[in-house]
Amino acid sequence: MLRKMTLSDLDVAGRRVLVRVDFNVPLRDGAVADDSRIRAAIPTIEHLRRQGARVILVSHLGRPKGRVVEELRLAPVARRLEELLGCPVQIASDCIGETVRAQVAGLKDGDVLLLENVRFHPGEEANDPGFARELAALADVFVNDAFGAAHRAHASTEGVARFLPAAAGFLIQREIEVMGRALSDPDRPFLALLGGAKVADKIGVIRNLLTKVDVIAIGGGMAYTFLKAQGLEVGRSLVDEERVALAEELLDEARHRGVEVLLPEDVVVADRFAADAQRRVVPVTEIPPDWQGLDIGPATCRHFAEAAGKARTIVWNGPMGVFEWEPFSEGTRAVARALAETGATTIVGGGDSAAAVEQAGVADRITHISTGGGASLEFLEGKELPGIAALWDKKDDGSGGPPEGRRGG
Ligand code: 3PG
Repeated sequence: MLRKMTLSDLDVAGRRVLVRVDFNVPLRDGAVADDSRIRAAIPTIEHLRRQGARVILVSHLGRPKGRVVEELRLAPVARRLEELLGCPVQIASDCIGETVRAQVAGLKDGDVLLLENVRFHPGEEANDPGFARELAALADVFVNDAFGAAHRAHASTEGVARFLPAAAGFLIQREIEVMGRALSDPDRPFLALLGGAKVADKIGVIRNLLTKVDVIAIGGGMAYTFLKAQGLEVGRSLVDEERVALAEELLDEARHRGVEVLLPEDVVVADRFAADAQRRVVPVTEIPPDWQGLDIGPATCRHFAEAAGKARTIVWNGPMGVFEWEPFSEGTRAVARALAETGATTIVGGGDSAAAVEQAGVADRITHISTGGGASLEFLEGKELPGIAALWDKKDDGSGGPPEGRRGG
């Protein structure tokens, strides 16, 4: 359970509430292309409005590196947010400074103001205390609902919590509760399905999950490093040569811990890395020298689906193949469908796997789709997320206070 202050611990009526949201969403032709992260923040915003708070939203968009980048202004996000909330959303021309302070002073109870991209200031990523203090000065309390940015120790995620009472919003609360429960007290069998191109990105997750799961299924580009570690020839498939020994070590550790490891037994190979390449299904023992594996094959899909069918908790992170190319997307879709069909608690983390369940049309049958990419990976690695660590602790008497050693002065 989250031992942090949450929205229910705050009295926000008539107060200015600074809410960190993760509105780092894809834009296309000046409009929001995927509004999942905006929708995920709506319950917190609506709750605060209902309570009569003056809502000041702060977010980053992209990586402008401390300067103003016109294409990364938040205006398109404000327009989408207005539609979703069904109320006007004011937009500020900056996130600190006199004009913004005047705009905040003019807010009435229930009003919503979206500050301009916080990463236009170098103080954000540097977690500069002066910048954090200026942000904090806009409000009476701070609510962090930006799970997707909680792994960043930036001024608007970590720094402000040193200057204002800081509580978790509904989204962070749910992310932590669902994923935290899976890691600490899962219904068993517990299956982890891991994919994605790079082994390097997933080592921490594999290490941590090996101490918790009963079965681990590995697909995607990273599977070939494990197949190589088992002595197989994988042709021109993606292999991280420097990590073959590490993959072997992880397989040994799994054996030692009694964790069952499922690797692909057949794959869809292509004669080149292209969507329109020639392709065919082969057993992993027969990958032709000049071909490369770009998806898991049908027998592997079946076995992964069977494992999903037996599990009671499933965490899935990373696509099973090059799913953005239709001819190599079936493995990822099959896994998405298998998750939708089980009665297990299903948790999908990471941008790509979340996109895959949307594409497969099964998003509404997944228990929890994390809004975090890097953040959910770090959570699954067992790392402390600075944006959450900084939130005020909930005391047994119902009060709250800053975590030990984190007061800003
Ligand atoms: C994300 O998209 O994962 C978050 O918004 C964090 O963005 P960042 O990787 O640019 O910090």
